[in-house]
Amino acid sequence: MTGATTPAPSPVEPAPDLPYFDLLLQQLQRGEPGFSGAFGRHVHWGSWEDPSRADGSVADFAVAAERLTERLIEAAAIAPGQRILDAGCGFGGTLARLNEGGECLDLTGLNIDPRQLERAAASLAPRPSNRLAWVVGDACAMPFAAASFDRLLAVECIFHFPSREAFFREAARVLRPGGRLTLCDFVPSPTLRVLQRFTGGVDREMRATYGPVDCSFSVARYRRLGDKHGFRLLIDADITRSTLPTYPVVAGLFAAAGWPEAEAATRRIGLVSRLGLMRYRILSFEQR
Ligand SMILES: C[S@@+](CC[C@H](N)C(=O)[O-])C[C@H]1O[C@@H](n2cnc3c(N)ncnc32)[C@H](O)[C@@H]1O
Repeated sequence: MTGATTPAPSPVEPAPDLPYFDLLLQQLQRGEPGFSGAFGRHVHWGSWEDPSRADGSVADFAVAAERLTERLIEAAAIAPGQRILDAGCGFGGTLARLNEGGECLDLTGLNIDPRQLERAAASLAPRPSNRLAWVVGDACAMPFAAASFDRLLAVECIFHFPSREAFFREAARVLRPGGRLTLCDFVPSPTLRVLQRFTGGVDREMRATYGPVDCSFSVARYRRLGDKHGFRLLIDADITRSTLPTYPVVAGLFAAAGWPEAEAATRRIGLVSRLGLMRYRILSFEQR
């Protein structure tokens, strides 16, 4: 189905309550220029080649968000002719980028929130040699046959999923042998892992803004989870420093929208990241 949304037969989990997406959808609906510029396409952090040159503007952030997308695509080693699934695809920005830059790609966006897919379907048409579909469903119970995809992307969304275990099990099922799973995630340092045991984590502060979030999964746990489901970790890139200019831009947008709690939560997480306690990593796994 090209450019249309298909309901999943029966998602096991209802769509999570994501307060920041409610705000985004409202602001985008109004055509608010700051939110449209920052989040009209991608809803993820930016990656700056030289963070010291970040100027704090929305336009600069949008370029950095595009650069993060490119880094994910490079890590995923995407090539013409591949079937690509973007799980938790947001407004479809990653698939838009692939559609613009690639030929003969079979692109599928999966999201648990149909409102986001409606926006994606309305804003994106496939180039002639590409195919594009939008599917409503849960990344932990995917409505796809076994070995349906060559590449699976999960761009800055796995922390929302009800279970990384279920997601990896599904990833192993829907990818063909030799396929790749590429994701980016907020990964705690060992010190933060210890602190999280006592405090319940920074997650409590994030929840009121960002909804259910689990940022307690270490790289060692990812490696073990990958092993268990037949994946070999090929790439582990810590790009924390390149993402740091994101926090003041996003906090400023929340402030401008009159949501001081979200501004404060974002600044606090920015501090945790600047202190090196929360790391931003790109991980790419190959199915054995
Ligand atoms: C931070 S956004 C990232 C969006 C997109 N990947 C991007 O980079 O622009 C997180 C996304 O995960 C989606 N999501 C959350 N839980 C999900 C689930 N269980 N299955 C599928 N998508 C989910 C949300 O609806 C949202 O689109």
